[in-house]
Amino acid sequence: MTAINEVTDLTLDGDVAVITLDSPPVNALSAVVRDGLYDAFEQAIVSDAASIVLICAGRTFIAGADISEFGGKRAGKELPEVQAMIEGSTKPVVAAIHGTALGGGLEVALCAHYRIAVPSAKCGLPEVNLGLLPGAGGTQRLPRIVGAQKALEFMTQGTHVPAAACLEMGLVDELAGEGNLLDDAKAFARRIVAEGRPLAKIRDLTDNVDADRSNPGLFDDFRKANARKFRGYAAPESIIQCVEGAVNLPFDEGLANERRLFTELVSGQQSAAMRYVFFAERQVWKIPDVPKDTPVVPVNSVGIIGAGTMGGGIAMNFLNAGIPVTIVEMKQEALDRGLGVVRTNYERSAKRGRFSMEEAERRMAMLTPSLDMNDLAEVDMVIEAVFENMDIKKDVFGKLDGICKPGAVLATNTSYLNIDEIASATSRPESVIGMHFFSPANVMKLLEVVRAEKTSIEVINTAMQIGKRIGKIAVLARVCDGFIGNRMLAQRRDSANAMLDEGAMPWDVDKALFDFGFAMGPFQMSDLAGLDIGWSKETSQPDIRLRDALCELDRRGQKTGAGYYDYDENRVGSPSDVVAGLVAEFAAKGGAEAHEFTSDEIVERLVLPMINEGAKILDEGIAIRPSDIDITWINGYNWPKYRGGPMWYADRYGIPELVAQLEVLQARHGDRWEPAAMLKRMVDEGKTFADFN
Ligand code: 3HC
Ligand code: NAI
Repeated sequence: MTAINEVTDLTLDGDVAVITLDSPPVNALSAVVRDGLYDAFEQAIVSDAASIVLICAGRTFIAGADISEFGGKRAGKELPEVQAMIEGSTKPVVAAIHGTALGGGLEVALCAHYRIAVPSAKCGLPEVNLGLLPGAGGTQRLPRIVGAQKALEFMTQGTHVPAAACLEMGLVDELAGEGNLLDDAKAFARRIVAEGRPLAKIRDLTDNVDADRSNPGLFDDFRKANARKFRGYAAPESIIQCVEGAVNLPFDEGLANERRLFTELVSGQQSAAMRYVFFAERQVWKIPDVPKDTPVVPVNSVGIIGAGTMGGGIAMNFLNAGIPVTIVEMKQEALDRGLGVVRTNYERSAKRGRFSMEEAERRMAMLTPSLDMNDLAEVDMVIEAVFENMDIKKDVFGKLDGICKPGAVLATNTSYLNIDEIASATSRPESVIGMHFFSPANVMKLLEVVRAEKTSIEVINTAMQIGKRIGKIAVLARVCDGFIGNRMLAQRRDSANAMLDEGAMPWDVDKALFDFGFAMGPFQMSDLAGLDIGWSKETSQPDIRLRDALCELDRRGQKTGAGYYDYDENRVGSPSDVVAGLVAEFAAKGGAEAHEFTSDEIVERLVLPMINEGAKILDEGIAIRPSDIDITWINGYNWPKYRGGPMWYADRYGIPELVAQLEVLQARHGDRWEPAAMLKRMVDEGKTFADFN
């Protein structure tokens, strides 16, 4: 065995040269890896071996370029040089894949002449998730194997495709036995030599691209079909242009086109934001006072209280992960309705082909309905999702204290309430924690875990780890009104309402936020949720509050066919004359000067108060780091990922500029706009939020 460098070995096993890469954690293509590969291939090609196998040690094949290298200074060999060395080898090269071959990793494998993978391996070109395109020939080679349509889907979805499907697509040539990759790869290499198979180069394949050239409408059809999904994102369009190049240009020109578009993306704001999000999503799990080896409560069964909007969705997360759930309601009718919703959701998924009807039944069978909280005596974790009312929650937790076994985690899904107070209803506050899911709870990625004063670190770790197990991204917060997400949302809502008081129209506010990249604006959200949440006839003040006036007119949102918008029978909203009149009337009553709002001004008025509140949340220690706030907003509230989250956005806006603008707004609109103390300190100290991550 020859050590080529600290991460690469070359071994001669008879007539097969084996190049082994070992660069934990994921064999990413850092400078040292590229150099090692280049030198190893150079030596293997001139060795006595008849063929070459490339394999990786550790948990995975090459998982892509080293993301942390982007945006910095480049060193070492460039990836295309390494690829040219592999593809140009005069001896057949076999890439042996386990774990994941992703991005640049798969692009390296596609330069080998043959590929073999274990059944558990997955391949993908997930660059789109980083605001990038496959920039090492992936956009040129993939269409030559699978055709433009499949290549477009593969690269714009960025999914990890299982080995069996890769074999079918022709991405992989052979499957190895699980656990037997090296031996099977060597045997495959020997067979290739023995059978005199050619040095197969994907770049030379022409059948698919020739066929695609006769279907020029393919690309615009693809654009149209995905317009909604791609809205705001730059990378999908660049990927489409690359594939158009693959179909219409000679290989090397297509490659140059790809390089140009890749360079544009990698130096742009969107990819910088999305690469930041990649690492931020991996930071959330790191909690300074909860070491990695903190024990967890084993969770093999879960109880849920309340089968309303949230309870059913929360239950589905656990059923999907194979964890049985007992769900408790007060009345049979509510229980039946809740279970009915879960069943409908599963049946819809089965009809769409996501899994079989038997699987839907299997999941339903793990859900036990009950009207008796005593049935929760043996569960490992309880999640309470009853009405948002402190007295009711305390009553529930008092009862749980008497029923549940010692050590069971007692969690609440409260949106705003003080979890310390809820915990005080029990004799075991160390077991009580917030597990705040987002609606629809079976879909939204975010889980806000809220530690109370006395919550034990074991219980915190349990909540975080179970979050991971059910596929959520968990962010840890501390107790305050609304925790991280809703506390900032309240600021945005107040500011949106204040603009209406100044005569802005709801649809103009919503459009500005939609164009910024959110799925919908605050008034569309209000119409969807119902204007009457938290409203009552007794306390209504229709002369003072627009919302109250709308509720009294029975304009309570989509469910009543009207709210801030008018709705047709398909629930499509349009601007309402009634609302326009009311807005103007309220604005005049309030003495607001007639004022035309620009989109930029609206966005500023919505986003700046969120950032200001975010700074307070950090200063009070409610969130651990700015990037946790960003992850909360991206995964719980659909903040556009390509804008990195509110705190990331603040750094681009500039902290001194932000404080100056808040001061302008403070002078104009009052102390609600006063810059947070932390922001002022940051200006004095010349800091950005990135400094606190
Ligand atoms: N570059 C740098 N670091 C990476 C990395 C990469 N490509 N991929 C993973 N890491 C790091 C993670 O940050 C993490 O570090 P930490 O332990 O310090 O937090 C560690 O490796 C382990 O990663 P995960 O926690 O994500 O481990 P999992 O086992 O859950 O997942 C994975 C492994 C599926 C490989 C996942 O890490 C992943 O999806 N990685 C990114 C893959 C990717 O996007 N590749 C394309 C890169 S862009 C490219 O190749 C451009 C090319 O076309 C030119
Ligand atoms: P919901 O009103 O739809 O459902 C609550 C259910 O709890 C009802 O079916 C009710 O019958 C049941 N219930 C009430 N008291 C009970 C008791 N003592 N025992 C058993 N069941 C009881 O309410 P929703 O929207 O599901 O909210 C539940 C909790 O989740 C609240 O704390 C809310 O703040 C929180 N939440 C709600 C979100 C949403 O978007 N709806 C989002 C995140 C959190």
